[in-house]
Parts: sequence; structure tokens; C-alpha cells
Amino acid sequence: MTAHAQDPVYVTDALIAQDIDAYLLKHQHKTMLRFITCGSVDDGKSTLIGRLLYDSKMIFEDQLASLEADSKVSGTQGGEIDFALLVDGLAAEREQGITIDVAYRFFATDKRKFIVADTPGHEQYTRNMVTGASTADLAVILIDARQGVLTQTRRHSYLVNLLGIRNVVLAVNKMDLVDYSAERFYEIVADYSHFAKQIGMDSFLPIPISGLKGDNIVTKSPEMPWYQGPTLLGHLEDAPVSDTRMQDAPFRMAVQWVNRPHLDFRGFAGQISAGAVHPGDAIRVLPSGKTTTVKSIVTFDGDLTQAVAGQSVTLTFADEIDCSRGDVIVRADAPCEVADQFEATLVWMSEQEMLPGRPYLLKIGTQTVSATITEPKYEVNVNTMEHLASKTLGLNAIGVVNISTDRPVPFEAYGDNPDLGGFILIDRMTNATIAAGMLHFALRRSQNIHWQATDVNREAHAAQKNQRARVVWFTGLSGSGKSTIANIVERKLHAMGKHTFLLDGDNVRHGLNRDLGFTDADRVENVRRVGEVARLMTDAGLIVLTAFISPFRAERRMVRDMMATGEFIEVYVDTPLEVAEARDVKGLYKKARSGQLKNFTGIDSPYEAPEQAELVVNTVALTAEEAADRVVEAILSQG
Ligand code: ADX
Repeated sequence: MTAHAQDPVYVTDALIAQDIDAYLLKHQHKTMLRFITCGSVDDGKSTLIGRLLYDSKMIFEDQLASLEADSKVSGTQGGEIDFALLVDGLAAEREQGITIDVAYRFFATDKRKFIVADTPGHEQYTRNMVTGASTADLAVILIDARQGVLTQTRRHSYLVNLLGIRNVVLAVNKMDLVDYSAERFYEIVADYSHFAKQIGMDSFLPIPISGLKGDNIVTKSPEMPWYQGPTLLGHLEDAPVSDTRMQDAPFRMAVQWVNRPHLDFRGFAGQISAGAVHPGDAIRVLPSGKTTTVKSIVTFDGDLTQAVAGQSVTLTFADEIDCSRGDVIVRADAPCEVADQFEATLVWMSEQEMLPGRPYLLKIGTQTVSATITEPKYEVNVNTMEHLASKTLGLNAIGVVNISTDRPVPFEAYGDNPDLGGFILIDRMTNATIAAGMLHFALRRSQNIHWQATDVNREAHAAQKNQRARVVWFTGLSGSGKSTIANIVERKLHAMGKHTFLLDGDNVRHGLNRDLGFTDADRVENVRRVGEVARLMTDAGLIVLTAFISPFRAERRMVRDMMATGEFIEVYVDTPLEVAEARDVKGLYKKARSGQLKNFTGIDSPYEAPEQAELVVNTVALTAEEAADRVVEAILSQG
């Protein structure tokens, strides 16, 4: 360690003890580089990060002491032992923190400040890697010189490239274990070059290093005179930081919140993601398209005459036009696109596989909308870059899909503006982030299809029938009595002169949905189609009764959201599994128990009971007639 004793990074540390103000002042005006380290499990990430922290002297006495206490090793103050302890401590901390997210570590040199996103290398933690990479200016892809390019190297490189990181370092680590062989180094570089070309990575900088020994980290390695390039830290200090890239683009700012401290002031706060803005600039608010001019740019330190990409500001407008959270403010004569159907790349990050047709929450910019995904156009094999046919996406899969949102979204292609083209998908039930995505472009059809207003509208249809349109959605296990009760309800309503229609699972599966089976994905699609049909029938003014198991809350909720408030009545036909199984009207439970019938609801396929149904009918306590009376009562009382 003494090899670096005269290194300037040590002087920085001395200053901190002598004059903290001078130290802070010195750091204040330095640029900040955010980078990520990635690679496989044993590529030596902890050692490398430990080395960077250690050699830049960002680990102070008290931190060392606590790391020492944690690992229960009483080390001497000798350099090598401290370093080993530090690495162990970092690794242990990361393993513990694994479920939380990404560990961000800070260090600084005389030239620059750094934040490194330290993410686990295990395959199941791709999501952490994506999180860490989403804000990085540069990626260090670590390779174990003995192993060469592995699947995980390829996956991470593909993601780094996909996320738009253009500055890539290929750190060929553990060179000490391959006798500092130039031949081995160039062999790996050639291998990686071939792969980089395949994924469209323009360039990368290969550096042979040893994190453990410190070769080519801070100082040039005497062991590898054949290497003429920069050291790792040297390159990190000189690499460009990205903030400047977006400043030449036209102005864009997603509204984070509306600031209204009193009636005379209305400001729109957000972070500028591209371009610049000045008082007097003509702007447009999307998706509405309304235009006005900027009156002032307000900050805590007073009004500005200009603000640029990266700054957080509050804008006030010359006119009172509608603008709320999630809207995007753009230069009036250079707006971005607005669409509700897109092609996108998805990185699936959940154990629960993707279900085409299921509504997920999509968070883009500062807004959250509901979105459904089509079956993948293809999945990408990260080893070969082949496009594979696939019906769904599982954990860590990368695929290209079409996405449709329930509202128009202002956006830009991810490649042009990551803020307005990058998004995440969230599970509505668990609130977990299940995928990260990048928008490519809007589908033409979303611009070419418009809602056609008709003269005889849904109100007119219902009024002529002298009723309010409704969807009465029966849900429950197979054999619970849905069809039986729905049938009686329809008979009663019909006798009262109501205009009704009954959609029944078994019947619809003979026609419209004859292509669907009973996998989760097929059930989602079954309910989605039935929901759309029911919705059209309410447009025709009918009282629609549906009898489908519809086992998932997410899709029942989706259908509910499609209908006008109060128009959707969920009826839970609550029959315990034992009772339905004992009745076994169609003999299907027997088949399912004997293994002849797969994916049977309640046996080897889940049923999620409603939590807030408008009506629950218990078929053990009530006869079908009595249950039907309750349903009719509920329908009429809500009219
Ligand atoms: S749903 O789950 O997609 O809503 P749906 O109500 O359309 O199901 O169809 C259920 C009917 O299909 C059952 O009443 C039963 O007669 C029949 N069926 C055949 N196989 C299965 C299965 N594996 N699970 C459930 N129902 C099945």
C-alpha cells in the first residue's frame, strides 16, 4: 500500500482533518460521475470497489473500526489487512442489503466526485442492476480473466447498452491469476468485441487490472508494460458526464406538482429533462396541446432568466391554462409526440411471469397510467442475440412487446430522452416493480384510429329501454352456482320487461373464446374479451349478466374500471371448495383430483376471492331462487 503513499488522493484526506471547510469548498466545484459496476458473481466487484475506496482514502478510521468489529476480526493497522477487512465488510453489507436495492457508495479524488452503484451479480438480481444503471454515466463491466465472457457479462452488457450508457469500460480483472498475460487479455477483448458489435455497442475501453493487487487501478502496473492505456481511476476522472447531452434538445419538463400557495400564484414544478427555458418562451402543455408563454422561472434563490436540463424549477404561465401533475411542458413549436400505443423493450424482473392482457400500472415521467401488454413479438437470447418466439416473459427475460395505455401519454423514444421514454411496470395488487422498459415508437394505428361519435349514444339506447345499463359480474369457483343463479336472475328481469343478456363461460368458450384454454394467461385474455363484449352491450343499453370463474382480482378490477361508476355490480357466489367439489355437477373435480385435468381452479390453479364485491351470496345458506332474489334486488335498488 505504501506504493501510493505520495499519491495526491492522500493529501485530500489530510485536509479533511485540518480544515473541514477548506475540504468541503474544494469538493463543491468538482463534477460528479455516476457509474455502475457489473458482471458475474465472482468477478471481484467487492475487491475492486474496496480498492477504489481504499486508494482514494474515503474509508476513515471510524468506518474501518466498525467494519472490523462487524467481521469480528481484530486486525492490525497494516495496509493489506485493513484492505481485506474492508472488502469483506462491503461484501457482507451488500449481501444483507440485497433485498432492499442498490448500495450507492461515494468517494472522491482531487479531480472529481464519484457515486458508484454497487449491485449484486447473481442472476436473480437483474432488477437491482437495472436500477443502478438507470442513472449511470458510465459502466464498468468486470470480467474474471480466467473465465472470460460469460452469460451474465452478456446480459449486463446488453442492458447497459439498452439503457443508453455509451461509456463502457471492460475491466479484465484478476490479471495476477493469469500471469499478467497479454495474450489472454487480447483474447478476451477480441471475444467481447465480437459480442459488442452484435448488440450495437459503438465502443468500449478495455483495461487489464487486478483489484486485489492494485494493478492499473490508480497507478500503472509495472507487471503489464505492454498495456499503454489509462488506469481505471484515471479514466473515471476524465470520462465525460452526461448532463450536457440533453441541453441542445428542445425544451421538455414533466410536471411533478402544482404549487399553489395562495390564489394569486400557480406554479408548475419539475425537473427540466431537455433543453432550456426563458421567460417569454412560447410553450405547450401535453397531452392537451394548450399553449401559452412562460411568465417567470421561480427558484428558492429568486427568479431566473434561464434554466437548463438538469435543473429543478417552478414555471409560471402568462395565461390560466389547465396543467397538472403528469403533464409535460414542451417548446410550443417543437412538441414531443403523444400516443396511447407503443412498441417497447421490456426487462422482466419478477418471479411472476408476464400476463398479456393484464392491466399493470405504468410509471413514466411523473405520471402513472394503466397499461396492458400484448404477447411478446419476440424474446432476446442474450447469448446469441437470436429472437425467440415466446408467449410470455419470465424472470430476467428481455423481450419486445406492444403496450397500450388507458390514456394518451406524452413521450419520446428512450434513445432520444431517457426521462420521457423510460418506464417501469408495477403490479397493481402488490405494488412491486415487475419490469423496466424503454419505449421505441408509437404504433401508427394509435394515431390513425379515432373514437367515432355516434348520434344514437349509450344514454339514448338505455333510455329507449327504460332502464340503466349494468354489468352484473358473477364470480366464483366452478360448480359454485354462477350459471344457475344468473339464469334465474335473467328470467326474473325478463319477466319484468327488462332488456338483458347472459354471457356464460362455457358458452362463450365454444365461440368467441374457443382458442383459449385454462392457463393463467388464457384466463386473463378470456376475461378481457368478455369485459369488452359486456362493455359494448352496456353501450347498447342492456343489463348484462356474466358467469365466469374470473379467478383473478386484477382482471375483475380492470373490467370494473372499464364501466361507468355504479354500472358494475360484482356478485361473489361464495361456495366453499368442499361443497362445490361434493356437488361436482360436471364430474370435473373428480378428473382434476385424479390428475386427468390440469390447471383446475381451486385444485392446482388459484382463485382470488373478491374483497369488496357489491354482493356476496352464500349458496350453502340460500337456495338458488333466494340468491337470485337478492341479486335482482341489488340491481334494481342501484337504479
Ligand atoms: S375462467 O377462469 O377463464 O373465468 P370460465 O368461467 O371461462 O373460466 O370457464 C370455466 C368452465 O370451464 C368451468 O365451469 C368448467 O366447466 C370448465 N373447465 C374446464 N377445464 C377447467 C379448468 N381447468 N379450470 C376451471 N374450469 C374448467
